[in-house]
Amino acid sequence: MDKPIIRSIKGVKDILPGDMAKWEAIEEAARRLAKVYGFAEIRVPLFEATELFARSIGGSTDIVEKEMYTFPDRDGKLLTLRPEATAGVVRAYVEHNLAASSSSQKYFYLGPMFRHERPQAGRLRQFHQFGVESFGTASPQADVEVIDLLWHFLTSLKLPGLTLEVNSLGDSTDRAAYRAVLADYLKLQADRLCENCRRRMTTNPLRVLDCKVPGCVAALGNAPSIGDYLAPASRQHFDEVLLGLRARAIPYVVNPRLVRGLDYYTLTTFEVSCLHLGAQNAVGAGGRYDGLVETLGGPSTPAVGFATGLERIALMLPDSALAPPRCPVFLAAFGTKGIEVGYHLLDQLRKLGIPADTDYRATTLKRLLSQADRVGSSYVIILGDDEASNEHVLLRNMQTKEQETIPQRQIVQTLVTRLKSS
Ligand code: HAM
Repeated sequence: MDKPIIRSIKGVKDILPGDMAKWEAIEEAARRLAKVYGFAEIRVPLFEATELFARSIGGSTDIVEKEMYTFPDRDGKLLTLRPEATAGVVRAYVEHNLAASSSSQKYFYLGPMFRHERPQAGRLRQFHQFGVESFGTASPQADVEVIDLLWHFLTSLKLPGLTLEVNSLGDSTDRAAYRAVLADYLKLQADRLCENCRRRMTTNPLRVLDCKVPGCVAALGNAPSIGDYLAPASRQHFDEVLLGLRARAIPYVVNPRLVRGLDYYTLTTFEVSCLHLGAQNAVGAGGRYDGLVETLGGPSTPAVGFATGLERIALMLPDSALAPPRCPVFLAAFGTKGIEVGYHLLDQLRKLGIPADTDYRATTLKRLLSQADRVGSSYVIILGDDEASNEHVLLRNMQTKEQETIPQRQIVQTLVTRLKSS
């Protein structure tokens, strides 16, 4: 009897070989640009003690309240699959005393994150982020640098319809003052708010600003703006960030309602959205988090960073951002002797690092040539028993369609030379 097939978990997707060209283009751009801007790679664990996320992201955020994959391990210790990487990077920074390192304290990461959200297009339960964290610089220039990298990354991938929104949440004193005023305003609007916001109104009033329920959006029409509660130093920091963005010709919109779903932010926050993505349109977001290192037991250290969602980027990536598939040499071998010599040549080319392939299932020249076309080959080595006995091969130039006869012992060197000069 046929066994039932086992399927992947809802919101957890395979990335199939056919998707790989997109993922490679994205990951290659991420790594290359992060290094160009002076960020070094860091890899932190996929799971950590639950307390790390509760303490850093904030107990009354959606992520910690309802989206974390948390489980006791066999020793009864509560563990959580990382919903984001900032908390883990800060933990590593404190644990390994990276503040004392003389090298630049700027790190980047790529990898999977886990959130138990309702799956939909662009929203998954296992998703991937490319992110950066820059420690030790309170200057607005560090904010500008990470936003510049984020913008450069997304525009270099030619994503259409990008908008950068920026805001300042002020320092902790500014925010406490604003929080109190906002909470008073929300109390007066309580009966217009959704149930979730009525609860948040006291636990985390700033989150109400982020609610998409139409009734809440309408109730917030005359809400006080955080911009009016910034102390002069916070205002100046924000103005310098905006000045830096203008100096780099990065277009932005100031959105005083941009609060973000994580509690660790101070001063600058930002988000880049992509017009064509639908409801889940944020492709990247971040901000400054000057208090987090201290919250996690380290020395007072300013920091700023961002993370981008790679699935959302892959959804929007145009074909023009992809490198065409390329396996420069393809082998079309026939007959016992032809195949034996052909596989030997394939092996020699691969050992020299030249991507070379064949199709073991195909038996006709037509099929092999169309396969060679599909993988973007420049040359096809054609080799039957006759060629093998005469110790030569036919070399077909896939662009000009010309074929020439080349002695077997010279073919590898000929290809090396031609591919080098092409
Ligand atoms: P975040 O806004 O929670 O920030 O996530 C950053 C990006 O990850 C989002 O803009 C989105 O593109 C992607 N993302 C988030 N959740 C999902 C999901 N369920 N499915 C698909 N993509 C998703 C952070 O994670 C902060 N750690 C960013 C940061 C770094 N702030 C400072 N440093």
